[in-house]
Amino acid sequence: MTTAKAVRLEAYGAPDVMQVVTVDVASPSAGEAQVRHTAIGFNYIDVYQRSGLYKIPLPSGLGFEAVGVVEAVGPDVTDVSVGDRVAYINAGGVGSYSTLRNVPAEKLVKIPATVSDEQAAALIFKGMTAQYLVRKTHAIKPGDLVVIHAAAGGVGQILVRWARALGATVVGTAGGPAKVARVLEIGAHHAIDYNKPDWVETLLAETGGRKARVVYDSVGKATFLKSLDITAPFGLVALYGNASGPVEPFDLGLLNSKGCLYVTRPSIFPHNSTTALLRENAADLFDAIALGHVGVDIGARFKLDDIVAAHTAAEARATTGAILIQP
Ligand SMILES: NC(=O)c1ccc[n+]([C@@H]2O[C@H](COP(=O)([O-])OP(=O)(O)OC[C@H]3O[C@@H](n4cnc5c(N)ncnc54)[C@H](OP(=O)(O)O)[C@@H]3O)[C@@H](O)[C@H]2O)c1
Repeated sequence: MTTAKAVRLEAYGAPDVMQVVTVDVASPSAGEAQVRHTAIGFNYIDVYQRSGLYKIPLPSGLGFEAVGVVEAVGPDVTDVSVGDRVAYINAGGVGSYSTLRNVPAEKLVKIPATVSDEQAAALIFKGMTAQYLVRKTHAIKPGDLVVIHAAAGGVGQILVRWARALGATVVGTAGGPAKVARVLEIGAHHAIDYNKPDWVETLLAETGGRKARVVYDSVGKATFLKSLDITAPFGLVALYGNASGPVEPFDLGLLNSKGCLYVTRPSIFPHNSTTALLRENAADLFDAIALGHVGVDIGARFKLDDIVAAHTAAEARATTGAILIQP
């Protein structure tokens, strides 16, 4: 038995419902590995769970993703060993906002020596999201016109780089001139400030009236109906997040009148539901990192003790790239 620091949630609400407490951690059981975290990734889903938009049983820990070193393994664990550098996107539930934790060994991926712990924590959850979006939700082909909302954010930056590497014409949207400038710097062909009311017209003027083969929309309520307006006939709106709030019910007839559009609401978890899928998709991501096809700015670092400030900054749209939490 040892102890760890961990974030605890007793109620849903504003960032200050999160408390940092000391918890007991038992020796790992059969099939488990004990991981000493070295870097923790903030992901926007953590906000949805803390606020209560996505319900989790309370009281609860928080956080899906972390990187660390295996300190001990339980009986029957053969696929990781003490000393391995590992990462996970979902260790069978929340709790990555902590210094040390027991997790099912089958949920771990080993990190290549060329990828630092910080890079891994910035890229695993968000990169595995981009991976299924560009490979499976819509397999991007050279010449596709792709629109990526919140393109200066964590997943957004990775999508911009990956879509560009796959040969797409990339349009990124972001809030405000500084983020728009960064979206262009990282490789988008066009960047649009969607805080401006006429952003749809501006986007279509930039593309010469051409609409998107796929719109990757993680903003939700504020952008969704406009995403339908910038999608080409038979194109796809992949609604993969709701940073501005959940999309309200809408008339499916709109999909007909706007040109036989498709809409999907995908998630990282079914795409990585088995150990084989998880490790195959992670290998694809690590290959893309090695080729220089993906990357993300580390926009901010917060100590685990300052977790309230991390969530406050994220919700204020005050960050670009990935936010890291230091255990
Ligand atoms: N379905 C999945 O499998 C999956 C997996 C991972 C992430 N996601 C989704 O992907 C999105 C990006 O995640 P992330 O962790 O990388 O976060 P992030 O993009 O770094 O942060 C969210 C961004 O959304 C934009 N935004 C627009 N309206 C907002 C509002 N009202 N409040 C807050 N932010 C707003 C902001 O950028 P601007 O200031 O430029 O508008 C903000 O920086 C999130 O929606 C998340 O839920 C989905």
